[in-house]
Amino acid sequence: METQATLILIKPDGLKRSLTGNILTRLSETKLEIVAAKMVRVSRELAAEHYRHLKDKPFFEDVLRYLMGEFHDRRKVMALIYWGEGAITKCRSLAGATNPEEADSVSIRGSYGRITTRGVYENVVHVSAIPEDAEREIKLWFEPDEIIVDLYPTRTVVESKEKRAWI
Ligand code: TYD
Repeated sequence: METQATLILIKPDGLKRSLTGNILTRLSETKLEIVAAKMVRVSRELAAEHYRHLKDKPFFEDVLRYLMGEFHDRRKVMALIYWGEGAITKCRSLAGATNPEEADSVSIRGSYGRITTRGVYENVVHVSAIPEDAEREIKLWFEPDEIIVDLYPTRTVVESKEKRAWI
């Protein structure tokens, strides 16, 4: 199996319901390496870019609001990158099908997901589906310096940008 990287998001329902520990424990069965992790406040722009393949779907607005935390009054997600042999296949399999009612009952989405009365699949986690999506999504959510291995080629840019520092 080839070495892959995949973006994992623990979505606002997963955080609100204190499922982070359970989800990370499940994912640790894969023996993959976590090469990046952070909490992110999701803007509309980030959510729309992440789900741009769904922009013509009737549920687009709802999935944006879901990822932005508007249904769980928690404006944050946990973003991680798992890396290793067959990372995408292994993590997708543990996550289960997109529709929580169709997901294997022992999978993460099968165990914890639900379909809301608005028809949104609250499926707790996001896992990149194929290597091309993983690359696009990882580059969208992370800067190269936030990842402890070199996943994709980088260039050096010199910036004199204002930033905060510890006092
Ligand atoms: P999609 O990218 O098709 O699936 P996946 O997350 O498994 O890669 O869909 C993105 C999210 O949109 C999905 O996680 C939940 C939501 N969604 C719905 O609410 N209803 C739907 O009918 C579909 C297809 C997705």
